[in-house]
Amino acid sequence: MQQVVLTKQALVTGEGALQYLKNVEYHTAVIVTGGQSMARTGVLERVQKIMEKEGRQSFIFSGISKNPTKAQVLEGVEFLKEKQPDVVLAVGGGSSIDAAKVMVLFYEYPELSFENVFSAPLEEKKRKTLLIAVPSTSGTASEVTHISVITLEDQQFKAAIKTENIRPDIAILDGTIPMTLPSHIAAETGMDALTHALEAYINKSGNDFTDALAKEAIEGLMEWLPKSYEEGDLESRSKVHNYQCMAGMAFGNSGLGIVHGVSHAFGGKYNLAHGLANAIILPYSMDYNKKEAAVKKKYEKLSKILGADIIEKVKELKKSLKIPDCIAQAGVSEQQFLADFEVLTDYALKGATVVNPLPVSRQDMQKFLRCIYYGKKVDF
Ligand SMILES: [Fe+2]
Repeated sequence: MQQVVLTKQALVTGEGALQYLKNVEYHTAVIVTGGQSMARTGVLERVQKIMEKEGRQSFIFSGISKNPTKAQVLEGVEFLKEKQPDVVLAVGGGSSIDAAKVMVLFYEYPELSFENVFSAPLEEKKRKTLLIAVPSTSGTASEVTHISVITLEDQQFKAAIKTENIRPDIAILDGTIPMTLPSHIAAETGMDALTHALEAYINKSGNDFTDALAKEAIEGLMEWLPKSYEEGDLESRSKVHNYQCMAGMAFGNSGLGIVHGVSHAFGGKYNLAHGLANAIILPYSMDYNKKEAAVKKKYEKLSKILGADIIEKVKELKKSLKIPDCIAQAGVSEQQFLADFEVLTDYALKGATVVNPLPVSRQDMQKFLRCIYYGKKVDF
């Protein structure tokens, strides 16, 4: 038996999706966002204008970094406790949405902390606030998933918090918002989405529904990501925005694999952007996973749909989006890599690697890490 959950209350898409906010009833809203980009590009102002109502107030909590940290979340929880919002609106990249999800969780359940959040049972109760997610990047699909990834800075480790209680109530996909993205961010986050779709598609916990979503997302992202990167027009950015969400609905139900296990290890250790790390690692993982018969079959199916070998297509796409070939080219020095090698191995074997369709031994992981660092072919 499998329960498939695609979204909580509403998924709003299409032209003018942001206008949905007009219908939201609230007394006090807190908008959670990242650095300066949402203010600079005028998105925050648009949001505030749409939500403006007499006698209502809204506050901004900003400064969530690209890898949101425990400290930022805890600071945000204090902000929520002080303002007592009945609507929390996360506006920004996956990091702002991930942070807002855990902030709201701790606000709703004051007994929770980073020490017990991974194990504490949670009772259903009347909620204090509605959580609305408006993504500006097209990658994590955090707006529809029950997952949040937070960096535990004291351990230099990225931990995934998974509970139904953090799935946003409303997800708004408005294609005009990712239009503000610089092209390299559109490329990296889009490759994160492609990684979600490809890992979900071969995960053994998948089913007909997740397969359908993942397959459509793979096809759509392969088609639209190049244009989204090169031209960034409304149509291509809107398409990628929708397909990344489908990829999220797929992996949120089926799980991921080795790419995410490894990229979280590198992201936690070196603050490497999540999408960039995934984009680098993805083709290596496909060469590794194709040894498994069921995966090979699925890759063959995708190759047939796309009219060319899927692994070669992904490698071409990575190149055309100007993604570095290997981790060595992404700013991690060899000295650092070698010094951290055993810790990286430990971390990379945890998380999503555990559900990779092909089991990964410690020895294989170490070979894999050398391949992705130095850019060597995966042929073991
Ligand atoms: Fe991801």
